[in-house]
Amino acid sequence: MKICCIGAGYVGGPTMAMIAKKCKDTKVTVVDLNQSRIDEWNSNELPVYEPGLLEVVQEARGKNLFFSTEIDDSIKEADIIFISVNTPTKQYGSGKGRAADLKFIELCARNIAKVGGGDKIVVEKSTVPVRTAQMVKEILSESDNGHNYQVLSNPEFLAEGTAITDLENPDRVLIGGDITTAGKKAVDTVVNLYAQWIDKDKIITTNLWSSELSKLTANAFLAQRISSINAISALCEATGADVDEVANAIGTDSRIGSKFLKSSVGFGGSCFQKDILNLSYLCKHFGLPEVATYWDQVVEMNNYQKDRFVQRIMDAMFNTVSGKSICIWGFAFKKDTNDARESPAIAVCSRLLEEQAKLKIYDPQVDYTTILSSLGLEKGDNRITFCESAIEAASETHAIALLTEWEEFRGADYGLIYSKMEKPAHFFDGRNLVDSKKVTDAGFTLSRIGKV
Ligand code: UDX
Ligand code: ADP
Repeated sequence: MKICCIGAGYVGGPTMAMIAKKCKDTKVTVVDLNQSRIDEWNSNELPVYEPGLLEVVQEARGKNLFFSTEIDDSIKEADIIFISVNTPTKQYGSGKGRAADLKFIELCARNIAKVGGGDKIVVEKSTVPVRTAQMVKEILSESDNGHNYQVLSNPEFLAEGTAITDLENPDRVLIGGDITTAGKKAVDTVVNLYAQWIDKDKIITTNLWSSELSKLTANAFLAQRISSINAISALCEATGADVDEVANAIGTDSRIGSKFLKSSVGFGGSCFQKDILNLSYLCKHFGLPEVATYWDQVVEMNNYQKDRFVQRIMDAMFNTVSGKSICIWGFAFKKDTNDARESPAIAVCSRLLEEQAKLKIYDPQVDYTTILSSLGLEKGDNRITFCESAIEAASETHAIALLTEWEEFRGADYGLIYSKMEKPAHFFDGRNLVDSKKVTDAGFTLSRIGKV
């Protein structure tokens, strides 16, 4: 069997590396338009930082795992094509700022139709709005090239930072297809691929639309939990309750469960906001404005949380940060990734720059070009300094804002760091990560989410 995956990003790369590792008889080729990205996948400096990923890639690369820009050749020879391209929020025209931009998916479908090469199973891996498969089917069926295509949906549920363990041992794999003889046969083919390492009980099959919608729904529910606990964090600050104690108390109820109740400066990442905006757009499109408004509130609460965090910084620093230097610990949207897409750090840093603060930024994995472009700044902007270590970033600043829960921040030598800072020195913990006693004993004024 031969697989082609179009799109060598955060989803396509790790997922295909795992399939190649587990299915040694299957040739897996990951293709992308971006030559430098492919070159990085072929080197030991992978474009995606993910614990354990390099080892998996090294095990299979050159044997049954290949990274290439020869897109058409790979499509032609493949039995199964995974579409794993980006589906960002649309930035123009109808649905701007809400709908998913499907132009990359459409281009892939057109290319598959053009290239031909025999009957194929085409699998949507990227998160897409419900009924996207209809578009893919129409493009493929109108191609008139004499080949048959079965379109399936197989959304990826991995979380960045834990992609390898998520792929190796997923809670479930979801595969949606047409309820026809040919559709069921195609679903079985993909089920058998995953069944080479995943228990069949964990492989759920549904119709196409349920599969597409389940992915949006899963992300909306997860994000909703974070916005819910963040909403409560504001009330905790007003009343003297402690949000971690509240989360622990409610999380022991087995109906609620303990995961995804960590209050924070807000959720980030390429999925949550994009998928909820898209879900809400779909609801409006299908004449369900009340449902759309319900989900919109999850994103609004997240924006409120980021604003509130900056407001707490302002309040603690005599209402002005103008001319003050602030240290930013962490820029990635979560630990163990080099991804900064929609990171809360973007909103926080942008607001602090608007208030004329100077920023010293340190993140162990996000490179400075990504940080600059995320903030919409030019190279050489003297309001920002990029640092090589946590301590360098904190030196001669008035405050530390901890925005990503990298483990190294937990174990830092706060006494030493405090001694290098301007006084009074503030510590704003946007992840409730650090030991409050150690930080206050070192001399800092500590401010945490959902705690007074
Ligand atoms: C998410 C989904 O978890 C995954 O199933 C889907 O495939 C893609 O979207 P990801 O965005 O990679 O994964 O990371 P996730 O661990 O979900 O974290 C998202 C954001 O929520 C991060 O900014 C994280 O810091 C934040 N978060 C998470 C919290 O603030 N509190 C929590 O309790 C959990
Ligand atoms: P994700 O997080 O969903 O994996 P990324 O942006 O990391 O998203 O990766 C998507 C990849 O898809 C990018 O590397 C991009 O160059 C690639 N891509 C987009 N459109 C096409 C296309 N038509 N053909 C090949 N690759 C594409």
